[in-house]
Amino acid sequence: MEKRKIIIDCDPGVDDAIALAFAAAHQEEFELLAVTAVSGNQSIEKVAQNALNLAEFYGLDVPVARGMDAPLVKEPLYAAKTHGENGIGQCAIPAAAKTMMKEHAVLYLNRLLKELPEGKKATLIATGPLTNIAMLLRLFPEVKDKILEIVFMGGAAMGGNVTPSAEFNMYVDPDAARIVFKSGIPLVMCGLDATLKCTLKRNQIIKLCQSGNPAAKVCGDMAGYTLENTSAKYRGEVSIHDVVPLMYLLHPEIFTIKRTILDVDCSEGPARGTTLCDFRWWEHDEEELTSFVLLDADGSRFQEYLITALYELGESMRGRTEGIQ
Ligand code: BDR
Ligand code: CA
Repeated sequence: MEKRKIIIDCDPGVDDAIALAFAAAHQEEFELLAVTAVSGNQSIEKVAQNALNLAEFYGLDVPVARGMDAPLVKEPLYAAKTHGENGIGQCAIPAAAKTMMKEHAVLYLNRLLKELPEGKKATLIATGPLTNIAMLLRLFPEVKDKILEIVFMGGAAMGGNVTPSAEFNMYVDPDAARIVFKSGIPLVMCGLDATLKCTLKRNQIIKLCQSGNPAAKVCGDMAGYTLENTSAKYRGEVSIHDVVPLMYLLHPEIFTIKRTILDVDCSEGPARGTTLCDFRWWEHDEEELTSFVLLDADGSRFQEYLITALYELGESMRGRTEGIQ
């Protein structure tokens, strides 16, 4: 079967970093065309460099491009408490030998998508604020024809993590999210309703950290940082939100999914960044009904698939990473 062509737009980010590991473990299923970075969990300089280092560390031979350095309208808002000052839980990943693409991520995405062979499309996986993708759609609206769907981590049908009702990626750049939501491109929203169930538990993190397996250890160390430095400490588990879009593409059966029409609050009021999931399909025309939201997840299956993937990736890295602490 032909591999699904994917592009990962991310802001590593502890869970983004684990999502890149998960992608690297599934190169049989995914053809990863590019990794693009966007300002989010940390500054664009930090997250872009993290993406470049992580890709090489995991053995991904993929172009990495630096994108937008701030949300469309607002000032950046970083998440150092959850992800550390360096964005990846203070873990030290060896500096990549490869260099970053010279081209801005938005321009690169446009070129890459347009250069896909006739009739071919790519799936965009977004695990940070949607700023790069909104810019792409605004500058080059015709590129929509080359995007199969956008599967993104963000939002929630119910509840938030930054405010009572807003999730981080949406809260940071709701204006960008609205552009994406109104684009007509098929969307799958992997929001908190599902991602809060997709965790690694304390004992699983400890085992990953203690394993001699390079991928498992680094991902365990990163998740361990979030575990120790946030309220995850009291929950005894860490949500690995950003793996969910990729997990959904490989194992949709572990999620509950519902058709919806998406919008987001772009006001300055207390609901800023809150996603609105309209389930009233009868109020909308057929062509508007192109989006889905994940409403639930089987957490144990998620853990099983993720942990297995990390160990498998680590096995393939042995030799290359000997001596890395
Ligand atoms: C999302 O916010 C970020 O901090 C995480 O990387 C994830 O993408 C969860 O709300
Ligand atoms: Ca992220």
